[in-house]
Amino acid sequence: MQVTCKIRRYNPTVDEKPYFSVYRAEVEPTDRVLDVLNTIKWYEDGTLTYRRSCAHGVCGSDAMRINGRNRLACKVLVRDVGNRMTIEPMMGFKVLRDLVVDMEPFFEKYKAVKPYLINDEPAPVTERLQSPEDRAKYDDTTKCILCAACTTSCPPFWSNPDFVGPAALVNAHRFIFDSRDQRGADRAAIISDRDGVWRCRTVFNCTDACPRGIQVTNAMEEVKRKLLYDRA
Ligand code: SF4
Ligand code: FES
Repeated sequence: MQVTCKIRRYNPTVDEKPYFSVYRAEVEPTDRVLDVLNTIKWYEDGTLTYRRSCAHGVCGSDAMRINGRNRLACKVLVRDVGNRMTIEPMMGFKVLRDLVVDMEPFFEKYKAVKPYLINDEPAPVTERLQSPEDRAKYDDTTKCILCAACTTSCPPFWSNPDFVGPAALVNAHRFIFDSRDQRGADRAAIISDRDGVWRCRTVFNCTDACPRGIQVTNAMEEVKRKLLYDRA
């Protein structure tokens, strides 16, 4: 089938402002949007710039706006989008070129919530044990691939780029609810400040955007309840 693909282009070294280029490509209905981009880049316009790596929904590098919704290009089938598609970079981040955005501020916020297990007790001979019930408390938030689709679909983030954002909060949740971790209080102090979790307005865009099906809004609500419970 032939698809018409409108792509937002911008090269800050030569362009005064972004513009759209329109391409046509012959692809199969079962191809992914990433295949459409590859077809355009490989056979029509080698200057088109976008990130991709695994092509299988694992690395999180090809999140972008596809017909107005944040998606991984490698997980969206052409037949589910139709023969006309508009592709833009994620919103709220600086565009470096075409569909490539600056992810550094995103990863700074991720690092700020200490997304790793902290336990100062001597390591046991075998592993640190945990009951299945305790493991289940954070199972959902282990699935994050740091694609940023949630954070860049979040209206409170668009209006305040200092908001730590859903992705960092998902990763804070993963360790706050881990019974083996001992630094929940450190993370609570970080995410309860003025640019922390209370900026969430439960819009649910983040949950809709997550390619891993993580209940992002619910995770943030659990973090809020934990902060209130621990304060009481
Ligand atoms: Fe991507 Fe989902 Fe992780 Fe957000 S929570 S960064 S949408 S995988
Ligand atoms: Fe890795 Fe799409 S290219 S998730």
